[in-house]
Amino acid sequence: MYCVRNVTEDLYWVGANDHRLTLFENIHPIPRGVSYNAYLLLDEHSVLFDTVDWSACRQLLENMDYLLAGKPLDYLVINHMEPDHGASIEEILLRHPKVKVISTEKSFLLMRQFGFQLDGHELIEVKEGDTWSFGRHTVTFVAAPMVHWPEAMVTFDTTDGVLFSADAFGSFGALDGKLFADEVNFDRDWIDDARRYFTNIVGKYGPHVQLLLKKAAGILDQIRYICPLHGPVWRQDLGYFIDKYDHWSRYEPEEKGVMIAYASMYGNTEAAAQALATQLCAQGVTNVWMYDVSNTHVSYLISESFRLSHIVLASVTYNLGIYPVMHNFLMDMKALNLQNRTVALIENGSWAVKSGDLMQKFLEDEMKNMTVLNDRLSMASALHPDKASELQALASAIVKSMQN
Ligand code: FEO
Repeated sequence: MYCVRNVTEDLYWVGANDHRLTLFENIHPIPRGVSYNAYLLLDEHSVLFDTVDWSACRQLLENMDYLLAGKPLDYLVINHMEPDHGASIEEILLRHPKVKVISTEKSFLLMRQFGFQLDGHELIEVKEGDTWSFGRHTVTFVAAPMVHWPEAMVTFDTTDGVLFSADAFGSFGALDGKLFADEVNFDRDWIDDARRYFTNIVGKYGPHVQLLLKKAAGILDQIRYICPLHGPVWRQDLGYFIDKYDHWSRYEPEEKGVMIAYASMYGNTEAAAQALATQLCAQGVTNVWMYDVSNTHVSYLISESFRLSHIVLASVTYNLGIYPVMHNFLMDMKALNLQNRTVALIENGSWAVKSGDLMQKFLEDEMKNMTVLNDRLSMASALHPDKASELQALASAIVKSMQN
């Protein structure tokens, strides 16, 4: 059965929702599913903007068959060829052999690299600023390299003000009928998954996202719709989401608050983390969030580290090193380019307390613009009352640094 929705009078969402996939990119949990968005424009010429993951191909085909009603597809615009969007390209080419494919040079190269059979089809290479008319609608192609792959572009329909934004402005979460961001309580129900999507998928490429945002700023008054490849379509309050993207891609926190990430083997480091959280709240800082790194998937930790201004890392020493799961979190923060955060450290060890020095060295040597507070809580096996003043001093140092 077809499952489509109008975005505008002649533009349709023809994508699909996926609740079966448990791990996006086989690494990030998606308990709320994900959508693969594709859009079909019925102008004098019909145009499909992007395809879908192979698992959703059948739904895309049913949607297109319904709307095309026996006519062939004229154009296929590929903004992003990564297989979660491009895997169905070949099937579209097989069913519509005369379709003209529009994409970037690098995109065609990568399609061939993945083994997509393009030979015999008309391929139109476009670059920054090129335009194309499909009838009533004229579009401009805008390069968006590294948002999130090097071949990516976005397409702006200047006729109706529709920005096909590829991975930018996307989110985890299946749509389940609610196509538009204004049909859900986005700030309550979606923002955490949108942040987790951005920070883990595109987070590393903040400067490239900033370049795209600067290009978008030049036509902001003309953008009426943002149609991403995942998650809801935006047609109201675009500034809300653009502002979030601006913060995330500049690596600036959204909120003053404290994330306490702890690695605890027998509960003693966790108890110290709890004591610190309690001290912070007693001193008036209540925007405090605790995460056990051993049972919180690192994609959630990354998302929270992008949201909040302060991070406390509390780790046991393990094989004379940082506890492996905490080390993995640090490696991921580095890989995703997180910067501009204030960090406090709690270390634990029963005979050789090493984790504090090692975490500090990692933060200072491997990451950018991370401020490590001088106050550090060091404990041997467990936190005892004789450390109460050190605990209080650490909490005070965090509170003081938040007042800057
Ligand atoms: Fe959803 Fe970079 O692909």
